Amino acid sequence: MPVALTLDEVQAVVGRWIAGGLVALPTETVYGLAADAGQPDAVHAIYRIKGRPADHPLIVHVAAVADARYWVEGSSDRAGEGSRDWLRFERLAARFWPGPLTMIVRRHRAAPDFACAGQPSIGLRCPSHPIARQLLRAFIDAGGRGIAAPSANRFGRISPTRAQHVRDEFGDADILVIDGGDAEVGLESTIVDLTRDAVVLLRPGAISLEALSAALAEPVTLSANVIDPSVVDSSAPRVSGSLVSHYAPATRMIIVERSDLASAAADAQARGRRVVTLECNDNAAAYARQLYARLRALDDGRADLILVQAPPRDQDWQAIWDRLLRAQSPVDKR
Ligand code: TXA
Ligand code: MG
Repeated sequence: MPVALTLDEVQAVVGRWIAGGLVALPTETVYGLAADAGQPDAVHAIYRIKGRPADHPLIVHVAAVADARYWVEGSSDRAGEGSRDWLRFERLAARFWPGPLTMIVRRHRAAPDFACAGQPSIGLRCPSHPIARQLLRAFIDAGGRGIAAPSANRFGRISPTRAQHVRDEFGDADILVIDGGDAEVGLESTIVDLTRDAVVLLRPGAISLEALSAALAEPVTLSANVIDPSVVDSSAPRVSGSLVSHYAPATRMIIVERSDLASAAADAQARGRRVVTLECNDNAAAYARQLYARLRALDDGRADLILVQAPPRDQDWQAIWDRLLRAQSPVDKR
């Protein structure tokens, strides 16, 4: 799979961003639907094509920690003089960037507010995928400030982990799709909120709560919404990934206990259902990498019920459980 683009390809992408156009950007987590975070029309095009509600903020992607200063309130140019948010931010960035970590911080008063839906906070991420790094570096070198990119799927649906998923999702919309191969992580980035007194994990991902606490040398709390998707964390800023139903296939999907899969499938078939199953394995990283591609394949219309075998319940599977519980059909639609 490609790990670098040619200079011409890079220029084509950067030119498109500068012209306000959309690019499907490969990252190590999922593919993003990417546009210049500094142009209101480009950002609005993302919302329109995704069908995303206007009050759900986007993540801004940068090439390096230094690029984040423009966006973060209290980011002093002099070492050791930043705000509390910025000090935490620098610590976590030093440890986990580039990589699958998004940090929510107070937005700099001079930075535009349309990428973060008018909120006083902003989500920042520096992806590690070599093509994403190459493109972000070139864009920022050309004078850009950052790239706004939500996952490149229609609102509420499964995130894309390969270029073909984006093409399937958006058909002939005017999006330049860059093929960076299969996403290495396969689940969206960990999101951590640094704007409150205590650091709060809003969305679990490849970087664990324990790893964050260790890097910060302070405890990180889990948002109540992560523990139970039906609980609304009223002090959290709006996160669409925190909706009870999200990441969902169109086909009805139900999680069943590990030992019940065969009998549940047989029962449903006996009731005339067309059933497909998603079996578990015991490698969380490998399962995460393939989860969305497998769900998409099972969601092709040949079945009317997807039965998902419950994975183990330990920490390594937390992000997977989070996505499965939100992808599962609400009780009244089963
Ligand atoms: O791995 C990822 O994070 C991918 C890749 C493309 O970078 N992006 C991604 O974006 O998952 P999206 O928009 O699908 O999910 C970002 C989540 C949303 O739930 C959004 O509401 C939340 O981050 N978010 C963004 N900015 C925020 C802010 N200022 N406050 C609270 N939540 C925020
Ligand atoms: Mg998304």
